[in-house]
Amino acid sequence: TGPCDIYSSGGTPCVAAHSTTRALYASYSGALYQVKRGSDGATTTISPLSAGGVANAAAQDTFCANTTCLITIIYDQSGRGNHLTQAPPGGFDGPDVNGYDNLAGAIGAPVTLNGQKAYGVFISPGTGYRNNAASGTATGDAAEGMYAVLDGTHYNGQCCFDYGNAETSSTDTGNGHMEAIYYGDATYWGSGSGSGPWIMADLENGLFSGESTGVNSADPSLSYRFVTAVVKGEPNFWAIRGGNAASGSLSTYYSGVRPQVSGYYPMHKEGAIILGIGGDNSNGAQGTFYEGVMTSGYPTDATENSVQANIVAAKYATTSLTSGPALTVGSAISLHVTTAGYTTRYIAHNGTTVNTQVVSSSSSTTLKEQASWTVRTGLGNSACFSFESVDTPGSYIRHYNFELLLNANDGTKQFYEDATFCPQSGLSGTGTSLRSWSYPTRYFRHYNNVLYAASNGGVQTFDATASFNADVTFLVETAFA
Ligand code: AHR
Ligand code: AHR
Ligand code: AHR
Repeated sequence: TGPCDIYSSGGTPCVAAHSTTRALYASYSGALYQVKRGSDGATTTISPLSAGGVANAAAQDTFCANTTCLITIIYDQSGRGNHLTQAPPGGFDGPDVNGYDNLAGAIGAPVTLNGQKAYGVFISPGTGYRNNAASGTATGDAAEGMYAVLDGTHYNGQCCFDYGNAETSSTDTGNGHMEAIYYGDATYWGSGSGSGPWIMADLENGLFSGESTGVNSADPSLSYRFVTAVVKGEPNFWAIRGGNAASGSLSTYYSGVRPQVSGYYPMHKEGAIILGIGGDNSNGAQGTFYEGVMTSGYPTDATENSVQANIVAAKYATTSLTSGPALTVGSAISLHVTTAGYTTRYIAHNGTTVNTQVVSSSSSTTLKEQASWTVRTGLGNSACFSFESVDTPGSYIRHYNFELLLNANDGTKQFYEDATFCPQSGLSGTGTSLRSWSYPTRYFRHYNNVLYAASNGGVQTFDATASFNADVTFLVETAFA
């Protein structure tokens, strides 16, 4: 059985079922998601390996070989056609063309389910999916339930990494016009105990950890790698539940009346579906989504407990974020440009600017040191790497406004994440490409001999598709100094 078979048996069927990792019905063998590749703009559909099974990640890997891929559609498995696509502008514009949000890169969130590889949806700030014309989702004060399986370690304090019910206009139309799962450590509206992250409910103009805005200490900080997050609501009653998606059972963090503030009782749900953003297209948040559903009717705790058992049995586990030539922590390297016409150049720095410079064995010691980097364990994720300057210890390559800068480590989570890169087999078919951990659509790229965190065909000049593969491919060599 799948989660939606369980909800069906419980009398609260799925009206939307989204997952890039697996089928959510035992009989489902249709499309899970669509990817679009950077090389030629072609798309392909990724389906389960077998009915009810895990996504065919190998099909994605083959289709996306030697280029980049974006997740363009997350299909609805419920049969209602409630697919999620690139979120349009609303109260806030996204960073992509015409104010749309960005699409997620297809390889930012690799996992295994029962040992088989699959990819989740890695939402960087600016990324979002939406369906403003969903059918069958709860409207008004109607009852609904939802769950999502998320990466409990990928979050931030911005608004709002959500999955669930939101406005059909992509604007804030008032209290109670949303009912979505939120995950992160935003404290602007409400929070739980400790410093977060928390599962909260985004009910519009408020993230609720309990009956009221502010601190509700029964909502715990979570530290699971894989989180099951549950929010459900019916007239003047709602609940937050959660647990470890890889083991054990769900706990109830809140179950009780609606916020006793105008707008939330009764609710004014509009029935659109969002992923990774707030109701008004606020798009500063980050998180990772593996699977989730919305139901018609208020699921019982028993039904949700069976869904949790099904999720645990799917055995979500981590897998490598890297590929290609191995990097050794503590070693010093130089990064050799491969683009034809520029192969006398290496990644170096002048002050805080990271660039390419012509370096050779006869260069000055100063220049050799500027072009040498100590490999460190990734500051933001120990499965990837950070690059510390040989001549300026304590300073690392980080992206800022998608330029690469050499900055002193300031000890913040933002810095750690900005300074973490995951090597993969070079996109041009040789060497190594260095993918940003926090923006997996983006790679170390030289452009006019300056280094950027560039995406393939994005809106910035340095995202140009021409020469992208060569510009993001470097040879890792023994350091000059
Ligand atoms: O409720 C929190 C956020 O407030 C919503 O997601 C957004 O629409 C508004 O800015
Ligand atoms: O480089 C993109 C973002 O720009 C970084 O994550 C942030 O530090 C800066 O605002
Ligand atoms: O960085 C040198 C060149 O500048 C890149 O190869 C090209 O993409 C850009 O014009």
